[in-house]
Amino acid sequence: MNTFDTIKPYKEVTSFLIMATKKIKSDSPETKDSQLTDLPGIGPAVASKLESAGVYDLMSLAVMSPNTLSDIAGVGAAVARKAIQAARDLLDLGFVDGNEFAERRANVAYITTGSKCFNDLLGGRGIESRAITEGFGAFGSGKTQLALSLAVNVQLPEEKGGASGKAVFIDTEGTFRPARVKQIAEGLGADPEKVLKNILVARAFNSDHQMLLLEKVGELIKKGEPIKLVIVDSLTAHFRAEFSGRGQLADRQQKLNRYLHDLMKLAETYNLAVYVTNQVMANPAQMFGDPTTAIGGNIVGHASTYRIYLRRGKQGSRVAKLIDSPNLPDNETIFWVTDAGVNDGA
Ligand code: GTP
Ligand code: MG
Repeated sequence: MNTFDTIKPYKEVTSFLIMATKKIKSDSPETKDSQLTDLPGIGPAVASKLESAGVYDLMSLAVMSPNTLSDIAGVGAAVARKAIQAARDLLDLGFVDGNEFAERRANVAYITTGSKCFNDLLGGRGIESRAITEGFGAFGSGKTQLALSLAVNVQLPEEKGGASGKAVFIDTEGTFRPARVKQIAEGLGADPEKVLKNILVARAFNSDHQMLLLEKVGELIKKGEPIKLVIVDSLTAHFRAEFSGRGQLADRQQKLNRYLHDLMKLAETYNLAVYVTNQVMANPAQMFGDPTTAIGGNIVGHASTYRIYLRRGKQGSRVAKLIDSPNLPDNETIFWVTDAGVNDGA
């Protein structure tokens, strides 16, 4: 079986969970009960203005521009700058020197999507390690198909567009299909059984379990598993279902934020790629273009290094659109989902 042994007796899971929570608390600075009101110039009144604009925690504030913060909170530019700086200090969003940065970039690994056009959209070589790539779109848009293709492609050697690694597939919706993986592997001329063996699948039963599984990934890597890709399909479904009440939005965002933080940490620590899928919801406020918005809003948007909007195109094709990338132009391309997975079609 290619599961990774996550089904444990209830008791054991509970104690593990408590341990996990403690650990998260001790080494993740923004969970040490730091609040918006701990920042200079942010009193309760300003904090509640921020909250009503969807800014609930330090991370969301830390990544804002002073102008935006100043507009939302109704504070002066100097106060805004100071608050943002303080939030960054508290979160330890430190800078590294140029050499260190260059060194880190040099060992970034890439995983081909299977489509040259799609790779080009992402800068030429596919999705990259030390980054979170988010695929969002309506049902049937190809989010899971891309995930499955990546899980196969990561196993390829570097010269063929892979990272000679294994994939972890955290499945929150029960959509992982071994038969489909085999079909994709066969389409690429690979041994289907071997390919399937190199994908470690875990079903996440709720958002706590989903969080816990990330720790498991770290443990597996420490034990020597050459994991180079972590997939979470879907990132937001459990969070969305569990925190569905109006008053629960702040809690949901905070938890999601912590999860993304943990994912990014995993990507950085082990130089691996992260691909997450995300659903869309109708956005009645948008009057032009495609009236859909990714779940999780700003939190997911800021945390994802690459956001790709997927949709169905003409004659069975798919369209991938890159959104808000830090270093690449917003652009879109056509690709295909075939029996052999994602590619450029016949
Ligand atoms: P949700 O999870 O429902 O939100 O959607 P999704 O975006 O994950 O959709 P998914 O990636 O599962 O895409 C489903 C589509 O992929 C189907 O409608 C098919 O068009 C295509 N597809 C799935 N399996 C195959 C296959 O075996 N062969 C081919 N050619 N296409 C497939
Ligand atoms: Mg899916």
